[in-house]
Amino acid sequence: DDSLSQLAARSGRYFGAAVRIEDILAEADLRGTVLRECVSLTPEFALKWDAVERSPEAFRFGPIDDLLSFAVQQGLRMRGHTLLWHGSVPDWAQAQLRSQRSWTLVQRYMEAVLSRYRGTIGQWDVVNEPIETGYRMDGLRGSVFLEAFGPDYVVRALHEARRLAPGAELMINEFALEADSKVESDRRYHFLKLLERLKRAGAPLDGVGLQAHLDLSKGPVRAVVYAPFLQDIAGLGLFIAITELDVKEYDYAQPVDRRDRDVADATARYLDIALAQPAVRGVSTWGMSDRHSWLRVTLEDLARHQGSWKDGSTPGFNRGLPFNSSMRRKPMYHAIANAL
Ligand code: XIL
Repeated sequence: DDSLSQLAARSGRYFGAAVRIEDILAEADLRGTVLRECVSLTPEFALKWDAVERSPEAFRFGPIDDLLSFAVQQGLRMRGHTLLWHGSVPDWAQAQLRSQRSWTLVQRYMEAVLSRYRGTIGQWDVVNEPIETGYRMDGLRGSVFLEAFGPDYVVRALHEARRLAPGAELMINEFALEADSKVESDRRYHFLKLLERLKRAGAPLDGVGLQAHLDLSKGPVRAVVYAPFLQDIAGLGLFIAITELDVKEYDYAQPVDRRDRDVADATARYLDIALAQPAVRGVSTWGMSDRHSWLRVTLEDLARHQGSWKDGSTPGFNRGLPFNSSMRRKPMYHAIANAL
């Protein structure tokens, strides 16, 4: 039967996933699944500033070079995730940015990365999570870029990226824009205002990444809210990519087949809305398998359910990705296949 990429190609779209090169090299079952299902790869961590330049000028490009040669060998594309994200700036750079507010530090880093991958990485999340509307993620301090340079850092970063990678598609990538809640409705509003400001300022912005980390505890995505949001983005002449689709579970005490069905239903509902928008170019999940989900089940999750696991499933992983830990297709896989 058709792979997710073959199904996506029927409507001129792509399917991809975030991966870590060490997992791809170490696990034949993961490698086989990624090669069968994906035409696009996103480095989950290795292409973030905190991974590339842990100490000044000591660039660590090895893991990305390895993933890139794997991708090129297999005819896959790689997404450039991500140049500037306040969630992954090395400590030494944070200190320097906060004290000296020197754009040269940012420019030098972007130059090092973009010149190395010019011509091989064709699409960049230039700024990840640019809207900083006092929305603090787990107590993380606000964006060091916003503090050091003010809101114009986004336009400046896009111009730098265009100068350094003239042929690449430039994007900004954002999370928590899907739910039907006051917080996320405000975030959609601020995000659209940012996009309008960027376009008015003539910023070289080509597309928008919507992370789409769905969360069952936030309730279902509603078409009447989300479809107009997508249309407003498309109306600005921007293409859209779903960049980090996965589903944070809510009730870990349910039997696994119920949990997997809830995840599949949320995925189907979301993609039916998102893929009705022609400006959506493709879908990437944030991982292929629950084995490597970044969404750990925390102790408070366990506490909330007094650790009762009806089916003895391992409490370690959230079950929010298309394949299970044994690399078997889950209901979520079929939900994606049916929506593409
Ligand atoms: C996450 C990775 O999955 C983790 O391994 C890492 O520890 C932190 O970053 N939004 C993003 C991604 O844009 O870069 C983040 O990835 C998840 C949230």
